[in-house]
Amino acid sequence: MSDNQSNLSGSEMNTSDASNDAGTDQGRVFRDDPLPNWWKLIFVVTIAFAPPYFFWFHNGAPGRTAAERYDAALAANLRLQFAEIGELSATRENVLKFLYEDSWLKVGRAVFKSNCVSCHGSEGGGLAGPNLCDDSYKNIKEIGDILKVLQNGAGGGAMPAWQGKLSPNELVLVSSYVASLRGSNPATAKPAEGQEIAAWPPKPVEQEKSAEANSQSDSSPDEG
Ligand code: HEC
Repeated sequence: MSDNQSNLSGSEMNTSDASNDAGTDQGRVFRDDPLPNWWKLIFVVTIAFAPPYFFWFHNGAPGRTAAERYDAALAANLRLQFAEIGELSATRENVLKFLYEDSWLKVGRAVFKSNCVSCHGSEGGGLAGPNLCDDSYKNIKEIGDILKVLQNGAGGGAMPAWQGKLSPNELVLVSSYVASLRGSNPATAKPAEGQEIAAWPPKPVEQEKSAEANSQSDSSPDEG
Protein backbone atom coordinates (compact mmCIF):
# COMPACT_ATOMS: atom_id res chain seq x y z
CA MET A 1 0.00 0.00 0.00
CA SER A 2 2.51 2.52 1.05
CA ASP A 3 4.79 1.53 -1.88
CA ASN A 4 2.04 2.20 -4.47
CA GLN A 5 1.19 5.54 -3.02
CA SER A 6 4.73 6.72 -3.19
CA ASN A 7 4.97 5.63 -6.87
CA LEU A 8 1.86 7.60 -7.86
CA SER A 9 2.94 10.75 -6.15
CA GLY A 10 6.28 10.34 -7.85
CA SER A 11 4.81 10.39 -11.39
CA GLU A 12 2.60 13.35 -10.54
CA MET A 13 5.63 15.18 -9.47
CA ASN A 14 7.20 14.62 -12.91
CA THR A 15 4.25 16.08 -14.88
CA SER A 16 3.90 19.05 -12.64
CA ASP A 17 7.49 19.78 -13.45
CA ALA A 18 6.65 20.08 -17.16
CA SER A 19 3.48 22.15 -16.83
CA ASN A 20 2.04 24.54 -14.34
CA ASP A 21 -1.47 23.22 -15.05
CA ALA A 22 -0.67 19.69 -13.97
CA GLY A 23 -3.16 18.36 -11.48
CA THR A 24 -6.18 20.25 -12.94
CA ASP A 25 -6.24 18.12 -16.16
CA GLN A 26 -5.37 14.68 -14.83
CA GLY A 27 -1.72 14.93 -15.57
CA ARG A 28 -1.88 15.52 -19.38
CA VAL A 29 0.73 17.75 -20.88
CA PHE A 30 -0.13 20.23 -23.64
CA ARG A 31 2.52 21.49 -25.94
CA ASP A 32 2.26 24.27 -28.46
CA ASP A 33 4.81 23.04 -30.98
CA PRO A 34 4.45 24.43 -34.53
CA LEU A 35 3.14 21.97 -37.20
CA PRO A 36 5.87 20.28 -39.20
CA ASN A 37 6.65 21.94 -42.51
CA TRP A 38 5.85 18.84 -44.58
CA TRP A 39 2.37 18.86 -43.08
CA LYS A 40 1.80 22.53 -43.91
CA LEU A 41 3.10 21.97 -47.42
CA ILE A 42 0.59 19.18 -48.09
CA PHE A 43 -2.18 21.35 -46.64
CA VAL A 44 -1.38 24.30 -48.89
CA VAL A 45 -0.78 22.22 -52.00
CA THR A 46 -4.14 20.39 -51.67
CA ILE A 47 -6.01 23.66 -51.32
CA ALA A 48 -4.15 25.24 -54.23
CA PHE A 49 -4.80 22.14 -56.38
CA ALA A 50 -8.55 21.96 -55.80
CA PRO A 51 -9.94 25.00 -57.72
CA PRO A 52 -7.98 24.47 -60.96
CA TYR A 53 -8.83 20.76 -60.87
CA PHE A 54 -12.49 21.57 -60.29
CA PHE A 55 -12.63 23.74 -63.41
CA TRP A 56 -10.56 21.31 -65.45
CA PHE A 57 -12.83 18.39 -64.52
CA HIS A 58 -16.09 20.24 -65.12
CA ASN A 59 -15.22 22.28 -68.19
CA GLY A 60 -17.08 19.83 -70.42
CA ALA A 61 -14.15 18.37 -72.33
CA PRO A 62 -14.82 14.71 -73.16
CA GLY A 63 -13.13 11.77 -71.49
CA ARG A 64 -12.90 13.22 -67.99
CA THR A 65 -15.02 10.59 -66.26
CA ALA A 66 -14.76 6.83 -66.31
CA ALA A 67 -18.27 6.58 -67.78
CA GLU A 68 -17.34 8.86 -70.69
CA ARG A 69 -14.17 6.96 -71.38
CA TYR A 70 -16.17 3.72 -71.36
CA ASP A 71 -18.68 5.10 -73.88
CA ALA A 72 -15.87 6.34 -76.10
CA ALA A 73 -14.14 2.96 -75.97
CA LEU A 74 -17.41 1.20 -76.79
CA ALA A 75 -18.04 3.47 -79.78
CA ALA A 76 -14.47 2.99 -80.99
CA ASN A 77 -14.88 -0.75 -80.70
CA LEU A 78 -18.09 -0.63 -82.72
CA ARG A 79 -16.36 1.44 -85.44
CA LEU A 80 -13.55 -1.09 -85.49
CA GLN A 81 -16.02 -3.92 -85.95
CA PHE A 82 -17.90 -2.03 -88.64
CA ALA A 83 -14.66 -1.46 -90.50
CA GLU A 84 -14.66 -5.20 -91.04
CA ILE A 85 -18.04 -5.33 -92.81
CA GLY A 86 -17.83 -1.84 -94.33
CA GLU A 87 -20.95 0.23 -95.00
CA LEU A 88 -23.80 -2.22 -95.42
CA SER A 89 -26.72 -1.17 -97.52
CA ALA A 90 -29.96 -1.52 -95.61
CA THR A 91 -31.47 -4.39 -97.60
CA ARG A 92 -33.50 -7.47 -96.89
CA GLU A 93 -30.63 -9.60 -98.23
CA ASN A 94 -28.24 -8.26 -95.62
CA VAL A 95 -30.76 -8.77 -92.81
CA LEU A 96 -31.11 -12.39 -93.88
CA LYS A 97 -27.36 -12.86 -94.28
CA PHE A 98 -26.51 -11.59 -90.79
CA LEU A 99 -29.29 -13.62 -89.19
CA TYR A 100 -26.90 -16.54 -89.67
CA GLU A 101 -23.74 -14.81 -88.42
CA ASP A 102 -23.66 -15.32 -84.67
CA SER A 103 -20.84 -12.93 -83.85
CA TRP A 104 -22.63 -10.07 -85.65
CA LEU A 105 -25.89 -10.86 -83.89
CA LYS A 106 -24.07 -9.83 -80.70
CA VAL A 107 -23.52 -6.39 -82.20
CA GLY A 108 -27.21 -6.25 -83.12
CA ARG A 109 -28.00 -7.26 -79.56
CA ALA A 110 -25.94 -4.32 -78.26
CA VAL A 111 -27.94 -1.95 -80.48
CA PHE A 112 -31.16 -3.54 -79.21
CA LYS A 113 -30.06 -3.23 -75.57
CA SER A 114 -29.38 0.47 -75.87
CA ASN A 115 -32.42 1.49 -77.96
CA CYS A 116 -35.27 -0.98 -77.82
CA VAL A 117 -35.54 -2.64 -74.39
CA SER A 118 -37.57 0.20 -72.89
CA CYS A 119 -40.54 -0.82 -75.06
CA HIS A 120 -39.79 -4.40 -76.07
CA GLY A 121 -38.26 -5.76 -72.84
CA SER A 122 -34.65 -6.79 -72.25
CA GLU A 123 -35.23 -10.20 -73.87
CA GLY A 124 -37.74 -8.98 -76.45
CA GLY A 125 -40.79 -10.38 -74.64
CA GLY A 126 -42.64 -7.09 -75.06
CA LEU A 127 -43.69 -4.22 -72.78
CA ALA A 128 -45.36 -1.24 -74.46
CA GLY A 129 -44.26 -2.79 -77.75
CA PRO A 130 -45.27 -6.27 -78.87
CA ASN A 131 -43.53 -9.55 -78.10
CA LEU A 132 -40.81 -10.12 -80.71
CA CYS A 133 -40.08 -13.72 -79.70
CA ASP A 134 -43.17 -15.57 -80.90
CA ASP A 135 -44.35 -16.49 -84.40
CA SER A 136 -47.01 -13.77 -84.63
CA TYR A 137 -46.40 -10.24 -85.88
CA LYS A 138 -48.56 -7.20 -86.48
CA ASN A 139 -46.60 -5.47 -89.24
CA ILE A 140 -44.39 -8.24 -90.53
CA LYS A 141 -45.15 -10.76 -93.25
CA GLU A 142 -41.58 -11.68 -94.15
CA ILE A 143 -38.08 -10.90 -92.90
CA GLY A 144 -37.56 -7.75 -94.99
CA ASP A 145 -40.51 -6.12 -93.24
CA ILE A 146 -38.52 -5.92 -89.98
CA LEU A 147 -36.17 -3.47 -91.66
CA LYS A 148 -39.09 -1.50 -93.10
CA VAL A 149 -40.79 -1.22 -89.69
CA LEU A 150 -37.51 -0.02 -88.19
CA GLN A 151 -36.91 2.54 -90.92
CA ASN A 152 -40.43 3.92 -91.06
CA GLY A 153 -41.88 3.18 -87.63
CA ALA A 154 -45.30 1.58 -87.07
CA GLY A 155 -48.53 1.91 -85.16
CA GLY A 156 -48.88 5.61 -86.04
CA GLY A 157 -45.58 6.45 -84.33
CA ALA A 158 -46.01 4.22 -81.27
CA MET A 159 -43.05 2.38 -82.76
CA PRO A 160 -40.62 5.22 -83.63
CA ALA A 161 -38.84 5.40 -87.01
CA TRP A 162 -35.11 4.74 -86.68
CA GLN A 163 -34.02 5.83 -90.13
CA GLY A 164 -31.42 8.57 -89.58
CA LYS A 165 -31.11 7.78 -85.87
CA LEU A 166 -29.32 4.48 -86.41
CA SER A 167 -26.65 3.92 -89.07
CA PRO A 168 -27.47 1.50 -91.92
CA ASN A 169 -25.15 -1.06 -90.30
CA GLU A 170 -26.99 -0.75 -87.01
CA LEU A 171 -30.37 -1.00 -88.77
CA VAL A 172 -29.36 -4.20 -90.55
CA LEU A 173 -27.76 -5.85 -87.53
CA VAL A 174 -30.55 -4.99 -85.10
CA SER A 175 -33.09 -6.29 -87.64
CA SER A 176 -31.16 -9.56 -87.87
CA TYR A 177 -31.07 -9.71 -84.08
CA VAL A 178 -34.84 -9.15 -83.87
CA ALA A 179 -35.34 -11.95 -86.40
CA SER A 180 -33.09 -14.19 -84.28
CA LEU A 181 -35.30 -13.60 -81.23
CA ARG A 182 -38.07 -15.57 -82.89
CA GLY A 183 -38.59 -18.89 -81.14
CA SER A 184 -36.84 -17.81 -77.95
CA ASN A 185 -38.89 -18.08 -74.79
CA PRO A 186 -38.17 -15.16 -72.44
CA ALA A 187 -39.27 -15.36 -68.81
CA THR A 188 -41.73 -12.49 -69.22
CA ALA A 189 -43.56 -12.48 -72.52
CA LYS A 190 -46.70 -10.73 -73.69
CA PRO A 191 -49.34 -12.84 -75.43
CA ALA A 192 -49.07 -13.13 -79.21
CA GLU A 193 -50.45 -10.27 -81.32
CA GLY A 194 -51.21 -10.13 -85.04
CA GLN A 195 -50.84 -12.94 -87.55
CA GLU A 196 -48.70 -16.04 -87.40
CA ILE A 197 -46.26 -15.96 -90.32
CA ALA A 198 -44.10 -18.47 -92.21
CA ALA A 199 -40.62 -19.34 -90.91
CA TRP A 200 -37.68 -17.17 -92.00
CA PRO A 201 -35.96 -18.30 -95.18
CA PRO A 202 -32.92 -20.60 -94.76
CA LYS A 203 -29.35 -19.38 -94.85
CA PRO A 204 -28.65 -17.98 -98.33
CA VAL A 205 -25.95 -19.61 -100.44
CA GLU A 206 -22.85 -17.41 -100.47
CA GLN A 207 -22.76 -15.60 -103.81
CA GLU A 208 -19.18 -14.41 -103.46
CA LYS A 209 -17.77 -17.86 -102.85
CA SER A 210 -19.37 -19.38 -105.92
CA ALA A 211 -18.21 -16.37 -107.96
CA GLU A 212 -14.72 -16.91 -106.61
CA ALA A 213 -14.86 -20.58 -107.55
CA ASN A 214 -15.93 -19.62 -111.07
CA SER A 215 -13.10 -17.16 -111.54
CA GLN A 216 -10.65 -19.73 -110.25
CA SER A 217 -11.76 -22.31 -112.78
CA ASP A 218 -11.63 -19.60 -115.48
CA SER A 219 -8.01 -18.86 -114.79
CA SER A 220 -6.98 -22.47 -114.43
CA PRO A 221 -3.56 -23.21 -115.86
CA ASP A 222 -5.06 -25.94 -118.13
CA GLU A 223 -6.41 -23.22 -120.44
CA GLY A 224 -3.15 -21.40 -120.86
C1 HEC B 1 -41.29 3.97 -77.68
C2 HEC B 1 -41.44 2.54 -77.64
C3 HEC B 1 -40.69 1.71 -78.66
C4 HEC B 1 -39.35 1.67 -78.89
C5 HEC B 1 -38.24 2.50 -78.22
C6 HEC B 1 -39.14 0.66 -79.89
N1 HEC B 1 -40.33 0.12 -80.24
FE1 HEC B 1 -40.60 -1.34 -81.62
N2 HEC B 1 -42.61 -1.18 -81.40
C7 HEC B 1 -43.27 -0.38 -80.49
C8 HEC B 1 -44.70 -0.54 -80.65
C9 HEC B 1 -45.76 0.14 -79.80
C10 HEC B 1 -44.88 -1.45 -81.70
C11 HEC B 1 -46.22 -1.94 -82.26
C12 HEC B 1 -46.67 -1.02 -83.35
C13 HEC B 1 -48.04 -1.41 -83.83
O1 HEC B 1 -48.94 -1.49 -82.99
O2 HEC B 1 -48.19 -1.63 -85.03
C14 HEC B 1 -43.55 -1.83 -82.15
C15 HEC B 1 -43.32 -2.72 -83.17
C16 HEC B 1 -42.07 -3.20 -83.51
C17 HEC B 1 -41.84 -4.23 -84.48
C18 HEC B 1 -42.91 -4.93 -85.29
C19 HEC B 1 -43.53 -5.97 -84.43
C20 HEC B 1 -44.82 -6.50 -85.02
O3 HEC B 1 -45.38 -7.42 -84.40
O4 HEC B 1 -45.24 -6.03 -86.05
C21 HEC B 1 -40.49 -4.46 -84.51
C22 HEC B 1 -39.76 -5.46 -85.37
C23 HEC B 1 -39.90 -3.55 -83.56
N3 HEC B 1 -40.88 -2.79 -82.97
C24 HEC B 1 -38.55 -3.47 -83.32
C25 HEC B 1 -37.97 -2.47 -82.56
C26 HEC B 1 -36.55 -2.27 -82.45
C27 HEC B 1 -35.50 -3.12 -83.10
C28 HEC B 1 -36.37 -1.18 -81.65
C29 HEC B 1 -35.06 -0.50 -81.28
C30 HEC B 1 -34.25 -0.02 -82.34
C31 HEC B 1 -37.69 -0.73 -81.24
N4 HEC B 1 -38.62 -1.54 -81.80
C32 HEC B 1 -37.90 0.31 -80.38
C33 HEC B 1 -42.66 0.45 -79.57
C34 HEC B 1 -41.29 0.72 -79.51
